[in-house]
Amino acid sequence: MTPPVRTTRRARITSLGRYVPERLLTNADLEKIVETSDEWIRTRTGIERRHVVEPGTPTSELCAKAAREALDRRGIGAEELDLIIVATVTPDMVVPATACVVQDKIQATRAWGFDISGACSGFLYALTTGAQFVEAGTHSKVMVIGADVMSAIVDYQDRATCVLFGDGAGAVILEPSPDDSGLVDFLHEMDGSGARYLHMPAGGSAHPASHETVDKRMHFVRQEGAHVFKYAVRKFAEVSQRLLERNGTSPEQVDLFVTHQANLRIIDAARDRLGFPDSKVVKNIHEYGNTTAATIPLALGTALDQGRLRRGDLVLLASVGAGFTVGTVLLRWSGLEGKGQHG
Ligand SMILES: CC(C)(COP(=O)(O)OP(=O)(O)OC[C@H]1O[C@@H](n2cnc3c(N)ncnc32)[C@H](O)[C@@H]1OP(=O)(O)O)[C@@H](O)C(=O)NCCC(=O)NCCS
Repeated sequence: MTPPVRTTRRARITSLGRYVPERLLTNADLEKIVETSDEWIRTRTGIERRHVVEPGTPTSELCAKAAREALDRRGIGAEELDLIIVATVTPDMVVPATACVVQDKIQATRAWGFDISGACSGFLYALTTGAQFVEAGTHSKVMVIGADVMSAIVDYQDRATCVLFGDGAGAVILEPSPDDSGLVDFLHEMDGSGARYLHMPAGGSAHPASHETVDKRMHFVRQEGAHVFKYAVRKFAEVSQRLLERNGTSPEQVDLFVTHQANLRIIDAARDRLGFPDSKVVKNIHEYGNTTAATIPLALGTALDQGRLRRGDLVLLASVGAGFTVGTVLLRWSGLEGKGQHG
């Protein structure tokens, strides 16, 4: 399998913004809500705390904060944006798209946009979708946001899921690259037969909201954790490997592995299968838990904070999520643009 022949300019990430709510939900807090322990959560998931919104805070609020930080960092106004793509499974409402709400909040007067529902792979689906518009030459500034308020759809009576998730948002700006830096290639997959293992049953057209759906707690995420775990470990490694191979690249040539943060044991298993040393892997799950569409931009931010993303670095991004969905992206880090950038 060879990568597609490229006839256009690459899209590169020129800015990054993040937002996580200040409010913390620690393992000790969860011990008071469900029958669990700090020790169980840390050893089985690697999570120590999560950031959660004040109840009633919509996802668009987090998106707007992350987007504004990305715009400020880049030193441009929102009116320069051509397109806004929001990856989320916790939209403010079913209609309109959260991208519309964000467009209005940040006053991106020229932009159009839409939402992508790819769960934990949503950000990588959105990133590669946004890149197509840049590579086609029709759009020059695309805002890609991954954001979720998982605390709105997590059942705090279900100890097997409520310990895993947190809230957060990350935003990047994509622009044409003047050189060969930027998104090199991507390989995504979908396996809809996995839907039953991780889903929120009600609220859509299959089970519209009713007293019954509320009574049966169908508006919360349900999952078969062990099955999802095994699928994720296998797919992280398998699809990443295929992407590297078709680009004639080996894990030794990759400088940084930025993966979805769902469970520390999944990250470590993927690391071992791909043969990366721990020094090449970004981890921040202890601080944020699984923020679904926000984990990868938040992890890119952590890598920048730690001085681990340098211009010219080859970076592998990977995610597995509900659907099932699998996303992998290979990119040559270009460094950010604008005021006071070091990354
Ligand atoms: C959820 C997850 C942490 C559970 O870990 P696990 O090692 O698979 O544990 P199991 O589901 O087999 O459960 C083992 C036991 O722990 C219990 N348990 C589950 N959650 C618990 C909690 N928070 N505290 C204490 N015990 C818990 C279970 O009830 C079960 O008890 P039992 O053996 O008496 O039935 C793990 O499966 C996982 O991370 N899965 C992937 C989740 C994920 O990534 N989702 C998002 C995809 S993007």
